[in-house]
Amino acid sequence: MPTPSLAHKSLVSTQSLNLNDCEAFLTRAELLKSLYVNSGQIWSDSLRLRETQRNLVVALVFLESSTRTRFSFEIAAKRLGLKTVVFSAGASTSMAKGETEAETLRTLLSMHPDMLVIRYSGDTEVQKIVQQLVTGRKTPVINAGDGSGEHPTQALLDVMTIRQRLGEIANQRVLYVGDVEHSRVARSGRTLLELMGAEVAICAPSALMPKSSDWANVKRFSNLDEALKWCTVCNGLRIQFERHGAKFKISKDEYIEKFRLDEKNLKALSQESVILHPGPFVSGVDLDEAILLDKRCGIREQVENGVFIRMAVMGECFGLFDT
Ligand code: CP
Repeated sequence: MPTPSLAHKSLVSTQSLNLNDCEAFLTRAELLKSLYVNSGQIWSDSLRLRETQRNLVVALVFLESSTRTRFSFEIAAKRLGLKTVVFSAGASTSMAKGETEAETLRTLLSMHPDMLVIRYSGDTEVQKIVQQLVTGRKTPVINAGDGSGEHPTQALLDVMTIRQRLGEIANQRVLYVGDVEHSRVARSGRTLLELMGAEVAICAPSALMPKSSDWANVKRFSNLDEALKWCTVCNGLRIQFERHGAKFKISKDEYIEKFRLDEKNLKALSQESVILHPGPFVSGVDLDEAILLDKRCGIREQVENGVFIRMAVMGECFGLFDT
């Protein structure tokens, strides 16, 4: 079994991963999934926890909204035999009284959780605290999505799903459709996919094309039909209205007509390809729910694989696995 060389036993960016790390996480997650699928159990004898590990407490700190990431981290932690405490920003917390994200995080860290899983807006104060934890190497931290920045476990579960559907990542042509400018999913996914030998392209209205020079060398399509003829994997993205401010420059109707993933627009996509979407999707805008029934659609598998990837990542960061 390959072992990831996570320098600080944390995972905040896919940029820190090498091929060996990716292979280790994917192989571990695939093993966990096969144990579960074949026997209905998560553990073989070699994966049983030592008693001390049962007392480790993972703080799941969600300063921004989430359904699948928060729930799957919690299920994954419990499947690993870990204890969890969950903070979800909302009316019942002191954030509703005006406490900042950074002060909330400092308060929770003062209670000494053994691991931090954090989703936040990308706030620079929070980012500094996270970086200090990574550098300190005392409390492992896993980024569960930071604004328009990164979402490393989403990238891993996307790669796992593509690998299960298509057999390998090398030489796949992977397309991201929609709000690439604000997408942490596309940013983290691209890094891993290129590392593993895939080609990445983007298709978006000009207002949602990424402006950063990081994307300068990436193939771009403005026409969805042409893009779908090119790709072997099509990733839909949600329009992240919450990050647009007053910048959004395309009408919803025009977007739906030209970029929505639906039966009409997907006619150009090969029958051997895969359709993914990280969720949540806005039904009728970024995709039509009818495609959930399309045999090419792997969206439910992405959610399922998320639990095994998060088990693999937390387990490796804690050093839980014996072999
Ligand atoms: N894919 C994803 O991060 O979904 P949630 O926002 O529901 O966690």
